[in-house]
Amino acid sequence: MRRAIFPGSFDPVTNGHLDIIERGCKLFDEIIIAILVNPEKKPMFTIDERREMIAEVVMSIKQNQCRLLVEDFRGLLVQYAVERSADAIVRGIRAISDYEYELQMALMNRRLEPRIETVFMMPAEVYSYVSSRLVKEVFLLGGSVEGLVPPSVEERMRKKNGLK
Ligand SMILES: Nc1ncnc2c1ncn2[C@@H]1O[C@H](COP(=O)(O)OP(=O)(O)O)[C@@H](O)[C@H]1O
Ligand SMILES: [Mg+2]
Repeated sequence: MRRAIFPGSFDPVTNGHLDIIERGCKLFDEIIIAILVNPEKKPMFTIDERREMIAEVVMSIKQNQCRLLVEDFRGLLVQYAVERSADAIVRGIRAISDYEYELQMALMNRRLEPRIETVFMMPAEVYSYVSSRLVKEVFLLGGSVEGLVPPSVEERMRKKNGLK
């Protein structure tokens, strides 16, 4: 049984995240989508809302391919990964600009916990410029985010911001 952790803020979950989860499902028997509780950030959605949104949208991923769990965690990622007996941490790489930071994190995590491997995955090109941050920015300025996030997430963004 191979278990991976896919950690992130997921504020909100995008089609880019889903693309990585689907690809990860080809490599792992189980993926724990782990929402980082970060009191420093000012999020659009609460942890509970984010968990609900992820649970909703991953149902569309064939559950026979791999098992998907949604959890939240605080503190050191590698410590959480060990507690959950994970083999690997999955991270998405969109562009070279992601690589530098991700490499640094991966090497630090390896130093802290050599048993856990970091696996980088590339999304489909159409998602290579999609980030939760940019999706929120475009949405709040009145632009369309259709196709960048699942319809249920778009709906929640409208409700959250008092739009119809
Ligand atoms: N469009 C995308 N394509 C591929 N990977 C992505 C995309 N958006 C985010 N990711 C990856 O998903 C993971 C979680 O991202 P995010 O929710 O922004 O949390 P974090 O705060 O850790 O960056 C990261 O590995 C990030 O690189
Ligand atoms: Mg990010």
